[in-house]
Amino acid sequence: FCCPLHFYCSVDKASGKSTLGKKDLTLSFALSFLHFFHFRTSLPVPMFSRNTISVWSILKKCIGLELSKITMPIVFNEPLSFLQRITEYMEHIYLINRACSLPDSIERMKAVAAFAVSAVASQWDRTGKPFNPLLGETYELTREEHGFRLVSEQVSHHPPISAFHAESLVGDFVFHGSIYPKLKFWGKSVEAEPKGTITLELLKHNEAYTWSNPYCCVHNIILGKLWIEQYGTVEIVNHSTGDKCVLNFKPCGMFGKELHKVEGYIQDKSKKKCCIIYGKWTECMWSVDPQSYEAHKKSEKKGENRKQKQEEQKAGQNDDADDMPEVQETVCVVPGSTLLWRIDSRPAHSATMYNFTNFAMSLNELEPGMEAILAPTDCRFRPDIRAMENGRMDDASREKERLEEKQRAARKDRSKSDKEWSTRWFGNGTNPYTGLQDWLYTGGYFDRHYQDLPDIY
Ligand SMILES: *[C@@H]1O[C@H](CO)[C@@H](O)[C@H](O)[C@H]1NC(C)=O
Ligand SMILES: *[C@@H]1O[C@H](CO)[C@@H](O)[C@H](O)[C@H]1NC(C)=O
Ligand SMILES: *[C@@H]1O[C@H](CO)[C@@H](O)[C@H](O)[C@H]1NC(C)=O
Repeated sequence: FCCPLHFYCSVDKASGKSTLGKKDLTLSFALSFLHFFHFRTSLPVPMFSRNTISVWSILKKCIGLELSKITMPIVFNEPLSFLQRITEYMEHIYLINRACSLPDSIERMKAVAAFAVSAVASQWDRTGKPFNPLLGETYELTREEHGFRLVSEQVSHHPPISAFHAESLVGDFVFHGSIYPKLKFWGKSVEAEPKGTITLELLKHNEAYTWSNPYCCVHNIILGKLWIEQYGTVEIVNHSTGDKCVLNFKPCGMFGKELHKVEGYIQDKSKKKCCIIYGKWTECMWSVDPQSYEAHKKSEKKGENRKQKQEEQKAGQNDDADDMPEVQETVCVVPGSTLLWRIDSRPAHSATMYNFTNFAMSLNELEPGMEAILAPTDCRFRPDIRAMENGRMDDASREKERLEEKQRAARKDRSKSDKEWSTRWFGNGTNPYTGLQDWLYTGGYFDRHYQDLPDIY
């Protein structure tokens, strides 16, 4: 679903300007402050071990139920809200910036396809469940050096829907979506169906692309080693022409040959394949012309048929756990291919910190001076996530319960008074490109007028 270093690099003391008023502070925050700030690359403390808890005792009564209705002990969480987890789409924002700068439309589509794959790469080995956002919870992230800012809001509780809106600081692109992960428990695994549409608009090129994420499955939640699989077809449509890129996230299959593999193509208006895209979502993506690709496949097949027969004879019957197949050789590069994207390696202490990437490590950081600027509904103010991040598991558990109880009480009050919940920064509307229902940013968050925000913590 989703380190013992204490490393907080602070602001350049010379620019600390504590005498500034609030308005000035906001400005100077944007202009100078961030330039001196180094985001943290580690959490305050390593994670709590999950080994001692029996998941089975909690889940055995719940087969086929929707997981959002089951209360799971906090040790299965990771100290991020789902709103922060979806912000991880922005980790490889340079691919969107690259797309904006490319004059050729097929080249742009390649960069967008690489972005769509890279956006789910942070899921790799992330078996911790992010916290369900509370209704009205928000998250913002401004990264001047990467040229974007993002705001998100939990716009619905049942079903849980998270809406986000990111924009380029220089007007190059808008990237937005509403995500509604439907979780299903299937005995040995939990599957998340990625409902909701993601839209990317390249403003200078007058282009809009839409897609949805692949399915995501966490295996062996009862026994054995947890591992993550993503599968399904992701279609990126260029709405200016109807041209598209089809990406097939392959299920790993019985022998794990296809583990993590993604394969697809870009086709033009006449349905002619212009290029093949292939790789692994955990590793890298390449593009190559269709002729070279086919030729390479044919020569590969000859050697393989024999090998596969032997493997099939060796494979045993259903074990207790669905073990992750041995990872096969890394992506085999077809001669003549161009690299579109390669994953960054995770820091060494990632293994003891929920397998977070460097980007994820920084998401819940309360940077100095931020308190005065963030909306009071921002996830960084959630006491349960903060407590968990600091290794105070009992406090985290207690606070989580308190927040959920507070949310229930508020809902009850509303139903008594006939007051409807109203979202603050997003509105229920129609996606202009797909014609489907979507949650669209109504603007104004960065004016920072926070009157009438609900008290959710
Ligand atoms: C997308 O639409 C634009 C605008 O009509 C068009 O020029 C371009 O060829 C399309 N790009 C791709 C990759 O299909
Ligand atoms: C992190 O990755 C390792 C190696 O794949 C895995 O064994 C472990 O369960 C993962 N931890 C979390 C919290 O997902
Ligand atoms: C949003 O609008 C659609 C119709 O456009 C409606 O079916 C849906 O119930 C609305 N959702 C909410 C939460 O208001």
